This record gives sequence, C-alpha cells and structure tokens, in this order.
Amino acid sequence: MSKVRQAATTVSFVSQKGGVGKSALARLFAVGVAHRGQRALLADFDLEQLTCIEWNAARMLAAIEPEIDARPFKSLKKLRKAELDVDYIVADTRGLADDLTKELAEESDVVFLPTGTSLDDLRPTLALAHKLAKRGAEGRVVVVLSKIGRSEPQLARAAEAIAEAGYELLPEHWPLRDGFQADLDAGRAGRESRNPYLREVAERMEEALMIRARAARPRPAQAAE
Ligand SMILES: Nc1ncnc2c1ncn2[C@@H]1O[C@H](COP(=O)(O)OP(=O)(O)OP(=O)(O)O)[C@@H](O)[C@H]1O
Ligand SMILES: [Mg+2]
Repeated sequence: MSKVRQAATTVSFVSQKGGVGKSALARLFAVGVAHRGQRALLADFDLEQLTCIEWNAARMLAAIEPEIDARPFKSLKKLRKAELDVDYIVADTRGLADDLTKELAEESDVVFLPTGTSLDDLRPTLALAHKLAKRGAEGRVVVVLSKIGRSEPQLARAAEAIAEAGYELLPEHWPLRDGFQADLDAGRAGRESRNPYLREVAERMEEALMIRARAARPRPAQAAE
C-alpha cells in the first residue's frame, strides 16, 4: 500500500549580517511547533557554529521536553535526501548569505529575514531581499525586526523603510532582552522562558511566525511509496 506523504512546509531564517537573531528565531519556531504537537526538523546549515546543534545538546543534558530534532546539513541535496516525516523544516543558515543560503531561500515556502532597525542593518537586509526576489523568492520574503531596542521612532522609521522598499514586515518584533539570551544558553527557547513577561512576548512572536508560515503555499506535495 502506498502512503502519500504531505510535503513539509520549509521555513528558513536568512541574513546578510551575522548575529541578527536567525538561530534564536529558528529555535523559537521549532520549539513552538513541537509544543503544538507537530513535528519540526531544525536543520542547521551553519556548520562552523552549529548553534542549534550545540543548543540542542544543552537541552538534552537538561532533559528539557519536548525533544527537538536538530540535525546539521551541508547541502540542500542532503536535506532533500533525508528521510523526513515532519510538518516543518526549519532551516537556520549562516550569516553572509552565500550560494547555499540563496538556493535554500529559493526552495523555502517562506524566508524570514531578521534585521536590526538601523540603516546599517536595513541596507544589507533590503539588498539581500532584492537579490532573493530576483531569484524567484518574491512574495515569500518576510522581514522581521529583531533584537530591537525600546525606541518607538526607530521602529517606525525602520517599518517605513521596509514598506517603501516593497517588502512585507512581520507584524511582531523580537525585542532584545537579557532573559532571552539566558534562556537560549540554558537550552530553552521562545515560549519556554521562565519569565512570564518574556514568555508572552515569545508566544506572540511564535504565533506571528506560524501564521505567516501557514499562509505560505506549500510546495507541490511529494508522494512517497
Ligand atoms: N531577543 C534577544 N535578546 C537578547 N539576546 C538575544 C536575542 N536574540 C538572540 N540573542 C543573542 O544574540 C546572539 C546572536 O543571536 P543569534 O545567534 O540568534 O544570531 P544569528 O543571526 O544566528 O547569528 P550568526 O549570524 O552568527 O549565526 C546570541 O548570543 C543570542 O543568544
Ligand atoms: Mg546563527
């Protein structure tokens, strides 16, 4: 009897600059999927840092549930070849968006581009968004204001610049808070924060990412024998 496997939704976190929150948001997303009783593969394409893999080792040592399936991948081909039976593939990529990152973005149902609010951060982010759009990712690129400070005018100016450039902005932002760093260091992410205020912030971010991911049209389903 043949079993038709539903294609997973592929969500990638991509940036030109380093340290913008890709790995933090990828983990928040994967943890969110797992807590919702669905299956996520956290695919770590940053082989030099292996941020998600190292984090998952800390998570396992601390016996934090639910377990997250985090695996390193060196190419898109390897990812496509892997035996996957998951609802979401959550791809974390290295900074300095290289060819692999761009290839991955092309194949993703939604590409999240975390960025700071400064022009220094927005310029390379929007330049990358243009490149990805040219390569066919138009309509699937979503900018996420990430590790942001408390200035409302700075936030508003950034949102305006993104809108002017013609890109979609996720309605929730990811604020810079010491507690989020401490949680990641301890093998937790997103909604697993022990601080109720941070938990609420993370849950809102998780919901916004999930809503956008669900809205992304899944690529044609692959039938598995
Ligand atoms: N909201 C936040 N508040 C405070 N610290 C954060 C937050 N999000 C991420 N961090 C911390 O900021 C640093 C960079 O974040 P992260 O590793 O997610 O960025 P990245 O884009 O994946 O970086 P790289 O390009 O090096 O892979 C990490 O030390 C992380 O723990
Ligand atoms: Mg990273």
